[in-house]
Amino acid sequence: MKFKKVIGEKLKNKERIISLGLGEPYLETPKEIIDATIEALLSGKTKYGNCFGIPPLKQKIAHKLRSDNGIDANEDNIGITFGAKQAIYISLLALLEPGDEVLNFTPCYLSYEPQVKLAEKSAKLININLNKGDFSFDFDQVKTKINEQTKVIILNSPHNPTGKVYSRSEMDSFAELLREYPNVYVISDEIYEYMLYSDKPHISIGSYSDISHRVFTVNGFSKPFSMTGWRIGYLHFPAEFKQKIFLALQHINTNVTTFIQHGAAKAYDVDPQYYIDYKNQLRSYVDLMKQEFEGNEYVKLVTPEGGLFTFCDISATGMDSDSFAAELLESENVALNPGIIFGKDWDEFIRISFGCPFEEFRKGISGIKNFLNKKF
Ligand SMILES: Cc1ncc(COP(=O)(O)O)c(C=O)c1O
Repeated sequence: MKFKKVIGEKLKNKERIISLGLGEPYLETPKEIIDATIEALLSGKTKYGNCFGIPPLKQKIAHKLRSDNGIDANEDNIGITFGAKQAIYISLLALLEPGDEVLNFTPCYLSYEPQVKLAEKSAKLININLNKGDFSFDFDQVKTKINEQTKVIILNSPHNPTGKVYSRSEMDSFAELLREYPNVYVISDEIYEYMLYSDKPHISIGSYSDISHRVFTVNGFSKPFSMTGWRIGYLHFPAEFKQKIFLALQHINTNVTTFIQHGAAKAYDVDPQYYIDYKNQLRSYVDLMKQEFEGNEYVKLVTPEGGLFTFCDISATGMDSDSFAAELLESENVALNPGIIFGKDWDEFIRISFGCPFEEFRKGISGIKNFLNKKF
């Protein structure tokens, strides 16, 4: 990839790069969480723990899933994991058997595909493209691809990389489909849940009571509480999988770092104003994008509704996404992700992240505009 080569050279030369690439909030982890972690360390919470996690954290998560998400959650069916990433992997490990098929929507988070292969080498990943205009689901495609071999559907809302938030009626359609296929499970990746900036609410597929026993709800602390490096997340799993989840958690992890779990338990006591302020800040990134790119000939914006990214159509430039990202970086020292890395059919898109501070973001956006002005 040209982009990788250019960024490698720039980093080697210690050039200052404006990054619109990283999928992590720039904010600090809330102090309450840091203090609770230090306190846990000082009071000796440094020993082995139960592989599913410490009870106070699981109780708080179960409460949150019940009250915020409408999921009939039971703390006995919660597993604490090293990030939401590991929660997805452990769900796949528990679910997949030889020959199973997994339905996945592209563009998507980079780790889904390798994780499916790592969890079950013979599993077949069936990628279905989201609609290119508005990133909605193509239910006709889903109906042609779902079959008796389908074991899992991976859902992600708010969505990385498009910023789409799936609506109540879209989730209703999934629930309807799942009723027709009683052997199909869902892994619902909800890591960007708190990052909503349209009027659409976040809907958890696990809240549909008649299918909740087939839903693995994945979430974590990385994005809502700026804890990307702490590596802590969780899954709420169907009761029938308890033994399989136990095997994975016990024999891969033993336990997630005990004092970090104590720190994370404090996350639910953080003043909600923390993420309300953050959400409002993110809205200003979206507003800037709209101001700068609405009606732009070369970078077409689909206004994001949630998450940390926007996915823009650059087909009018005639460039592939790798060349766009590499040339932008060469010319303006602005880094972003080429669409091709999120799915083979997405080479006429670029992903722009809202992770950096606003002034940095503004400079990055100016850089993109300068690049376009110079080039076209
Ligand atoms: C859609 C999605 N799911 C899961 C993750 C992983 O989150 P964590 O850092 O909690 O492992 C990411 C991280 O970028 C993501 O974008």
